[in-house]
Amino acid sequence: MNQTIPSSNIFSAEKSAAEPKRVCVVGASGKLGQYMVQHALDRGYEVVGVCRPQSVVKLARFGDRLQIVPGSTNDPDVIQKAVTGCGGVLTVLAPWGAQQYSSGTARAVLKYARPDARLVFSCGWHITRDGQDVYPLGLRVFVKVFGWLGRLTRLAELDDQVEACRQIFASRTRWTVVRGSDLEEGESQGLPVWSQHVGDAMLVSNRTRRTDFALFMVQALGDEVLIHQAPAIVGRLSPSALSYVGAVANA
Ligand SMILES: NC(=O)c1ccc[n+]([C@@H]2O[C@H](COP(=O)([O-])OP(=O)(O)OC[C@H]3O[C@@H](n4cnc5c(N)ncnc54)[C@H](OP(=O)(O)O)[C@@H]3O)[C@@H](O)[C@H]2O)c1
Repeated sequence: MNQTIPSSNIFSAEKSAAEPKRVCVVGASGKLGQYMVQHALDRGYEVVGVCRPQSVVKLARFGDRLQIVPGSTNDPDVIQKAVTGCGGVLTVLAPWGAQQYSSGTARAVLKYARPDARLVFSCGWHITRDGQDVYPLGLRVFVKVFGWLGRLTRLAELDDQVEACRQIFASRTRWTVVRGSDLEEGESQGLPVWSQHVGDAMLVSNRTRRTDFALFMVQALGDEVLIHQAPAIVGRLSPSALSYVGAVANA
């Protein structure tokens, strides 16, 4: 396993001057989306959320603090309307259904977001940018089985999430693709730590609180270091992250 991780991979939650004022959360009604809306509001951003019409009700608790644009996230007209005036766009790449939902969503965001906007996308560890990731057996089996079952039942398209990320990696926008480990609910532990490649020792615990995944996405809006990066994240209090932090402190 590699252990070539700079200490800059542990960053603080302070606000940076580069942060946008108005941000759009694409896929706002899901679990990750709702956490991102909350964190973005907590940071004082104006927030616009996009979600399917049948899911608007899930956002009721935000009241008039959240502007909602109802519609499919892969509908270019919906995205064009929602991202207007936004300096940042946080996009949940959802692999659900059999209608190229992820790649359609990514395409619309890449096309209609402001050229100078910070674009932050979510996906899982299974996405690789440079083929240098070393995957645990359990994840390889899961991807094979879930991918096959998803295609068979037409309920999910993992391959389309791969295609979405291929488009993002090839784009000249100011993107970051955040690759989440296995997720769990629970109180925040603070910002996750990250590494370039799955297989790096700091990531071995493969566990992040969902609220902290969202925190990392929102924090990435103002972090120039993460532009054109695909950080793989893990909870900062997970055993593998704690070992890494200890090793850096003692170096
Ligand atoms: N779950 C994990 O363990 C895990 C692990 C690593 C990374 N991730 C990544 O984290 C992100 C969020 O995943 P999540 O599992 O936590 O789910 P989530 O936040 O609940 O988000 C699911 C999203 O998919 C939408 N959706 C559900 N069914 C759909 C359908 N048939 N057609 C179109 N959209 C549909 C939901 O919209 P509605 O609200 O309208 O239903 C929601 O926006 C994803 O990018 C995923 O790749 C997840």
